[in-house]
Amino acid sequence: MIIDIIAGARPNFIKIAPLVDALKSHIANGLNISYRLIHTGQHYDEKMSSQFFKELGIPEPTINFGIGSGSQASQTAAIMLSYENLLLVQKSNLCIVVGDVNSTMACSIVAKKNNIKVAHVEAGIRSRDMTMPEEINRIITDSITDYFFTTSQSACDNLRAEGVASDKIFFVGNTMIDTLVKFKDHLKRPPIWNELNLQKKEYILLTLHRPSNVDVSENLKLVLEKICENSKNTPIIFPVHPRTLKVLETFEINYNNLHFTEPMGYLEFNFLTKHAMVVITDSGGITEETTVMGVPCITFRETTERPETVSIGTNELVGTNPEIFNSILNIVFDGKWKRGNIPDKWDGKTAERILSVLKKIIIDKSI
Ligand code: UD1
Ligand code: UDP
Repeated sequence: MIIDIIAGARPNFIKIAPLVDALKSHIANGLNISYRLIHTGQHYDEKMSSQFFKELGIPEPTINFGIGSGSQASQTAAIMLSYENLLLVQKSNLCIVVGDVNSTMACSIVAKKNNIKVAHVEAGIRSRDMTMPEEINRIITDSITDYFFTTSQSACDNLRAEGVASDKIFFVGNTMIDTLVKFKDHLKRPPIWNELNLQKKEYILLTLHRPSNVDVSENLKLVLEKICENSKNTPIIFPVHPRTLKVLETFEINYNNLHFTEPMGYLEFNFLTKHAMVVITDSGGITEETTVMGVPCITFRETTERPETVSIGTNELVGTNPEIFNSILNIVFDGKWKRGNIPDKWDGKTAERILSVLKKIIIDKSI
């Protein structure tokens, strides 16, 4: 009995870490299965990949396809070919994919065409924005998934509305939050803290990497200008995603309080999140982490596939008109940002819940 766990991009590593931990401990306690940890190589820079394996204690992947970057089609196709080749050598019995990146969709298609059952962790979330590559990945993956592990009731509702049988949907919570719960007391102050003499709740943390926000240099420049102009000279720490870096290098922008850094390690990044006055982001995962840590979060996007971060958590979806920064930051400066709660089952025990279901699927064969 072999389970494949697929990971390719930064947020995947954070989501699979607790799953691998749980599998390892159940195997050590006699669960008679083996697993292959498959890294597609979609992300490959040390700061986008291996530092997460080291920090989070994820074992070395069984195999790394080393796919690297490419257009949507070439990257997806290369991942599919590599995974198919692996399955031709040795098939697995179950393929676990997480999230919504190209690696998720590519491997789910290959597994399914080889008659291998697919389990999708973080199934059912929908932005309803078909211009996002991730939304296409989610819909295609869920259209061929056998076992749906969800982070929220709204994800379960979406799946049922698409015709998925209720007994294949398992509302288990959020493995990204398992990682946060495990490491929350081990977060690390990054060197920039002392370099800039940062103070708790007196700086802004910024991340931007969605193609719609960063791929056009004039748009990215304007967004950064508007944030800086409305920041009352508060330090802004901006760990730059490699996709964004390529565009940033095409123009000049100089504000005394805007500080660029390389992509950060998980422990340092979440230390900065925890103590930020506000996080401005277009990330999905970061809106979940700010929700759990109760940190004000401004999501610079038109849609979110994680509505509970807004309805329950501390996140606000503000659209993509840069003029919004003329007003939205004042709510934070005035101390009037809403408070939030932690969504149901975002409690650090999700991987264990997934394991209990997996045992029923593969050992008892009762699902
Ligand atoms: C991918 C995911 C996105 C996710 C993000 C997390 C898809 C379609 N997109 O977007 O959902 O939110 O990861 O960070 O799967 N690059 C490097 N080094 C790396 C990785 C990327 O330099 O290690 C650069 C390359 O120039 C590459 C670009 O970043 O072309 C984009 O990388 P890619 O993996 O295609 O998409 P992301 O924007 O990272
Ligand atoms: N993250 C990190 N360092 C950074 C930026 C993000 O460790 O410099 C972590 C963050 O805490 C979260 C995950 O990366 O766990 C989110 O990944 P990303 O924003 O790249 O992808 P998304 O969630 O939007 O798909």
